[in-house]
Amino acid sequence: MILFDATIYSARRKALMKALGKGVYLFPGATDQPFNYKGNTYPFRQDSSFLYYFGHPQPGLTGIIDADNGKSILVGDDAEIEDVVWMGPQLTMAERIHHIDADQHLPSADLSEWLRTKEVHYLPQYHADRLFYLAEVLGKSTDEIKTGHSHALVHAVIQQRSHKGAEEIEQMEHALHITHAIHSQISKSITPGKLEAHIRGVAEGVAFANQGRLAYQAICTVNGHTLHNNHYHRSLKHGDMLLCDIGAETMMGYAGDITRSYPVSPKFSPQQAEIYDLVLKAETECIKAVKPGVRYLDVHLQAAKIITEGLKAIGLMQGDADEAVAAGAHALFFPHGLGHMIGLDVHDMEGLGEDNVGYDATTKRSKQFGTAYLRLAKKLEPGFVLTVEPGIYFIPELIDLWEKEQKFKDFICYNKLAPYRNFTGIRIEDNVLVAENGPVVLGPEIPKQREEIEK
Ligand code: GLY
Ligand code: MN
Ligand code: MN
Repeated sequence: MILFDATIYSARRKALMKALGKGVYLFPGATDQPFNYKGNTYPFRQDSSFLYYFGHPQPGLTGIIDADNGKSILVGDDAEIEDVVWMGPQLTMAERIHHIDADQHLPSADLSEWLRTKEVHYLPQYHADRLFYLAEVLGKSTDEIKTGHSHALVHAVIQQRSHKGAEEIEQMEHALHITHAIHSQISKSITPGKLEAHIRGVAEGVAFANQGRLAYQAICTVNGHTLHNNHYHRSLKHGDMLLCDIGAETMMGYAGDITRSYPVSPKFSPQQAEIYDLVLKAETECIKAVKPGVRYLDVHLQAAKIITEGLKAIGLMQGDADEAVAAGAHALFFPHGLGHMIGLDVHDMEGLGEDNVGYDATTKRSKQFGTAYLRLAKKLEPGFVLTVEPGIYFIPELIDLWEKEQKFKDFICYNKLAPYRNFTGIRIEDNVLVAENGPVVLGPEIPKQREEIEK
């Protein structure tokens, strides 16, 4: 299946029209991007807001929602015989509008004229070629397009896409089934001497074999303290931790985002086990706290406090845990946010502006190192899907810098950190639906208890 029932799309577009009242809204789809020359392209990925309202996962299409007239229009062209020779038979535009319950289709060449007398609203653009496209069809400069997006449209789209429908949850469950298969195969593939690249290869292969792909570049590294490590040249050695942050995307574009941290040796060392259990405690306690009405910023701070108290018990931190977290001392070990929204994008709707998605009038972004990286802070609502992903890392460069500055010396036991210098990092991540009755961890269970992982 690559499209939902047609009425899903018309209902979504009608809801947007109702939210905005009037106006013409333009949704340019993505185009093929050259890898090294025009005919050799990167794998195509449709724009997520286009997917949400117009469904079709092919390049060369634009959607119009005309709230003034209550109509939806798909812009694009029927395939020429050359297209069919090289790419096979394609849906006609008439078939395309039928599949998404749109009202009419319009040839690409007629778009500028159709738009000429109208005030057109659009979302912020993250692809340079879409800036050029909008500049051309709207007769504006790319600078005007860059700054001219509609804030009302941004907020209406975020409001709608934040609340996942049953059909979307089903897709996310599917993404997590593939992700489960990936992690399951990975856990069997970890042996000393293999390259990280081998693990990435396993992940890519399992995703592809299940008609999916990875939702973002795999992070599978023995240097898990580098948060978004996209290098794969190191080999796995006895005693290493292998951090695997890997999620699949379904054919319809919905993402999973799961992190598991595996010991390369059959068992965790006592030092690894102690830190692992602390990260797992932070993760499971924070999942329990995911409820409507709770600010995610407070759940993030709860994770920071659990980590601080645990590191105090181990002897790496000291002093009052609340004071340490308020000061930001925990961020030496937990320097990122607890999580983010997830859906059609792994960091859902981030192209529409992180602050627009995760913050609001009553919840402003912190400027403090660590908490400043939190992508979702506002009050949670039923239907949100988010990640819970605490971690503990020992980043030698950051430790050295802070120690030299004697930063937070009342909270951090710098003289106890030498045995952890090569520890690297551990993160555990799951995807959680905010429901009226409490948190729902989506997808099949992917082992995370220490004993299960060792088995
Ligand atoms: N996979 C990237 C993240 O967890 O945010
Ligand atoms: Mn992740
Ligand atoms: Mn994540």
